[in-house]
Amino acid sequence: MGTQWKKYLFWFAHEHVDFRMAEMESILDMFKISVRTILKPKEHPFWIVELPSEDIVRQIASRSVSLRCCLELWAMSKELETLHACLKTYTKDNIETYKKQSFKITVKTFCKHFTQKEKVAKIEMFNYLSLEGPVKLNNPDLTLFYFEYYGLDPNYSPQKPFHLFFGRWITDGQRDLIQKFSLKTRKFIGNTSMDPQLSLMMANQAQVQSGDLVLDPFVGTGSLLIAASQFGGYTLGTDIDYLMLHGKTRPSRITQKYREIDENVAANMKQYGIMSNFVDVVVADFALRLWRENANLDAIITDPPYGVRESTERVGSSKICSTIEAHQVATHIPSKVVYDLNEIFEDLLTFSAKHLKINGRLVCWFPLFKEDHSEEFVPTNPSLQLLASSEQVLSANTSRLLLTYRKIKEPQT
Ligand SMILES: C[S@@+](CC[C@H](N)C(=O)[O-])C[C@H]1O[C@@H](n2cnc3c(N)ncnc32)[C@H](O)[C@@H]1O
Repeated sequence: MGTQWKKYLFWFAHEHVDFRMAEMESILDMFKISVRTILKPKEHPFWIVELPSEDIVRQIASRSVSLRCCLELWAMSKELETLHACLKTYTKDNIETYKKQSFKITVKTFCKHFTQKEKVAKIEMFNYLSLEGPVKLNNPDLTLFYFEYYGLDPNYSPQKPFHLFFGRWITDGQRDLIQKFSLKTRKFIGNTSMDPQLSLMMANQAQVQSGDLVLDPFVGTGSLLIAASQFGGYTLGTDIDYLMLHGKTRPSRITQKYREIDENVAANMKQYGIMSNFVDVVVADFALRLWRENANLDAIITDPPYGVRESTERVGSSKICSTIEAHQVATHIPSKVVYDLNEIFEDLLTFSAKHLKINGRLVCWFPLFKEDHSEEFVPTNPSLQLLASSEQVLSANTSRLLLTYRKIKEPQT
């Protein structure tokens, strides 16, 4: 017997819209999954696909943070009458398995609010479903979802929804992790700690999998390492800022006067129970050579300094003669010069081209100042193929791009 492809509805959070398809494509590629797309998400937060099994749906959901939930789609329409007609036809042959199970029907409306009473009335429209099991609101065997989609403009909700969906809930995405890794409750944070949702998306863009070796060369407080370790990566980082890595900078929380003695990247890893996936962090200037020639990485994920909330520096001196005496070596603190943004990205791409494995990924943020933006500013390297570029708008004139590259060949030496 051939595989039975079924229709599934993927419902996304309406956040970071420009990132959701890039995340999905990375996950599908990582698990070598091919889908048949029926309706692609654009601005709207749903995606309708055909897939050969429910296990594959679960596999996708086990990684996605943009995803709210997945349903086996039983009926969809733009009109309520047609939705009921489709649902009756579908359930005639397919409801037997669920007939005796405990169940609940949940109503979700997008961009329009309804009272509980109105929602109950909507649930009662489905009384014709031949379900004989008890209604159970907590943890039922079967959860059915009825979705009404009223568009994207909260200031204008049409009388009738644009789309209606009915389906069987299969699983949720990984949005709970956003809460778990919240900066509010994290032990060690700094002024530029990366938001957990974006960190997790970066780990997905990088296709981090169990056993991968992942580096953040501008590690700061290590937010990106947390996301990568959560997905099984062995993580390591470097940063030029000794005080940051040793948790000795001024606390970022206004309620906190002094840093605690054990505030550092390792403490965060312990807090989240992923210490066994943490290799270490080292104080080092990315502009200087640190790694063995043959050091090989599966992924590099990073948020380099743009010089807005942190300085962009590298070790160096503008003095013509800058030699130091032998007796000064032990206590010498090297002077620093400006590390220009173009230089940072050139170094980052050259380093990635050299130290990533073939097909390994570099995922990094790139700042964009809108007046002078042009596609040609996006950094390139002959060994790296740009796979995705997703924009996060920060203000009227500034945004940043999340760039995903794949190493396609060894650099020429
Ligand atoms: C945007 S922050 C990274 C924040 C980090 N993703 C986090 O979640 O905390 C950039 C980091 O790059 C570091 N940095 C600046 N210049 C550097 C250099 N030349 N080499 C290594 N790190 C550098 C800064 O100290 C800063 O911690």
